[in-house]
Amino acid sequence: MPTVAVTRVIPEAGLDLLRAAAEVRLWDEDLPPSPEQLAALLRGCDGALTLLTDAITGETLDREPGLKVISNFAVGYDNVDVPAATARGVVVCNTPGVLTETTADFAWALLMASARRVVEGADYVRAGKWRTWGPTLLRGRDLTGATLGIVGFGRIGREVAKRARGFEMTVLAFDEYEDETAARELGARYVPLDELLGQADFVTLHVALTPETEKLIGARELGLMKREAILVNAARGPVVDTDALVAALRDGTIGGAALDVTDPEPLPADHPLVGLSNALVVPHMASATHATRDRMAVLAAENLLTGLRGERPAGIVNPEVLDRSSTRGQSDR
Ligand code: GLV
Repeated sequence: MPTVAVTRVIPEAGLDLLRAAAEVRLWDEDLPPSPEQLAALLRGCDGALTLLTDAITGETLDREPGLKVISNFAVGYDNVDVPAATARGVVVCNTPGVLTETTADFAWALLMASARRVVEGADYVRAGKWRTWGPTLLRGRDLTGATLGIVGFGRIGREVAKRARGFEMTVLAFDEYEDETAARELGARYVPLDELLGQADFVTLHVALTPETEKLIGARELGLMKREAILVNAARGPVVDTDALVAALRDGTIGGAALDVTDPEPLPADHPLVGLSNALVVPHMASATHATRDRMAVLAAENLLTGLRGERPAGIVNPEVLDRSSTRGQSDR
C-alpha cells in the first residue's frame, strides 16, 4: 500500500477513497502545516494531496525523492512549482470542472452584493440604524442592461457570461486565447483589456495566476475603469496590485471591489481593504458548497490514486511526465 500525505481535513468522501487504497497520513490541524511541518509530513510518502496553502517547490520534491504525485485540492495550482515537478518526473494534478458553476455563481453573488450594497445594508440593521424607509438610503448600481467585462474567458469566465444573459448585459471578454465560437454562443465579444476596462460597469477576473497575470490590474488599469465601476476578484489575489486597489477605492477612481481572494491571504482584520465601505472582502470561499467540496475531494483523491498506479489521472496538469519512458515512479531514484 502506498503512503500518502493529506495536508488538511478534506470531506470524508475523498478521505474514504484514500483510506481504502493507501496508508493516510493526515494533517488534522485547523491551520496549514508550516514548511518544516509539511516537510515532516511528506517524509517517506509516495504521494500527497495538497491545498492551495501549501507551497510545493523543487526543494520540497528533492527532499522526498519517493514522492511521485502531487494532487492539489483546487483548480488553481500556482502553489506548486509545476516546471520543477515536471523536471523531476512528478505528476501534478488539479480539480478542474467540478467547481466551475459553483465559482461562477459566487462571482455573481459578490457582484450583486457589491452592486446592491447587501452587506452594508445588513451591517446597518445590525448596528440599530434602521429607523425608517429612505428614498436615498443605500442606493447602489443596476445590473440590468449594464456592461460586464470578463477577464479570463475560460471555463469559469464562460459560466459567468452565461449567467449575464438573464440581466440582458453587454458582455465583453478578454483572454490571451480567443475562442470565437464560444464567445458567439454566449453573446460575448472579445476586446483588448484596456477597452474592456474602459467600457465595463462590472469587471470580473477569472484568470489563473501566472507570471504574466501577476498584478495584471494595477494603478494604470484601475485608472482606465469607470468611476462607478465595480471590480470582482474570485481568481487569485496577486492578479490585482493591492496597494493600487486601496488607493483607487479611497480616492474614488473606481466605485467598489468585491474580493473572494486577496494579496496577502489571509488579509489581517486591520488591513485598509477591510475597513473601506466600498470594499467587500470574504475569505476565499467561491467553491465552498457541500456538494462541490465533496466533488473536489473525490476528484483529488482519484487523481492521486490513479497517478500512483502509474495511470493517467483525469486532472493531470503536466501530462508530458507520463509520455516519458521513465517517470519518477518507474525510475530507480
Ligand atoms: C480555489 O481557489 C481553487 O483554485 O480551486
